[in-house]
Amino acid sequence: MADWNKVYNEKTVGDTAAADVLIKNSHLLPDKGEALDYACGLAANGIFLEAKGFKVSAWDLSDTAVEKINHYSSADKLNLKAQKIDLETSLPDIKNQFDVIVVSYFLHRETLRYLHNFLKKGGLLFYQTFSGPQIEGRGPSTASFRLRRAELLKIFSDMQLLFYREDNCQPQHKDSHADIVQLVAMK
Ligand SMILES: C[S@@+](CC[C@H](N)C(=O)[O-])C[C@H]1O[C@@H](n2cnc3c(N)ncnc32)[C@H](O)[C@@H]1O
Repeated sequence: MADWNKVYNEKTVGDTAAADVLIKNSHLLPDKGEALDYACGLAANGIFLEAKGFKVSAWDLSDTAVEKINHYSSADKLNLKAQKIDLETSLPDIKNQFDVIVVSYFLHRETLRYLHNFLKKGGLLFYQTFSGPQIEGRGPSTASFRLRRAELLKIFSDMQLLFYREDNCQPQHKDSHADIVQLVAMK
């Protein structure tokens, strides 16, 4: 497993872009509310949502990421707070809290349904991560960190699908997105 503290020691908050699934579908966002950047890294998604007027929580296991985000947030007086949480073993027991949850490039199958619990009725889940077999060394090689075909559709089948992309049948085509799945769904 990657040493995420070491990775984030070398990086600066604000330097990375939010996930495409969020940027390209941002017209679906409500006007305001509470948002969660889940396994946030340096919280590019959270910063994007805060700029849109959301009150943002950002959760990650990396102390370095959490410290850097909170420093950045207080320096710029942002409505964004990061917390260190182990999302595999210590998920908060909360329900119906968030209007928006964004997950990019994180997968822990056993706890995926918690995302549904955390959302308010009418809340939106934006999810983007690697799927299918690894192509040209991109993303993790381990199956447990990659979604299977249509897996998110099954897991969140009780949500209303607003956007979905998983076009891995022409992996060599220049316009293909072959190893990434994107979903937006409403509770
Ligand atoms: C590939 S990064 C993605 C970060 C961010 N979402 C992005 O798209 O840039 C995966 C993130 O998951 C976090 N992570 C890994 N295992 C975790 C766990 N058990 N609990 C919370 N966060 C975890 C890492 O610290 C890292 O920030």
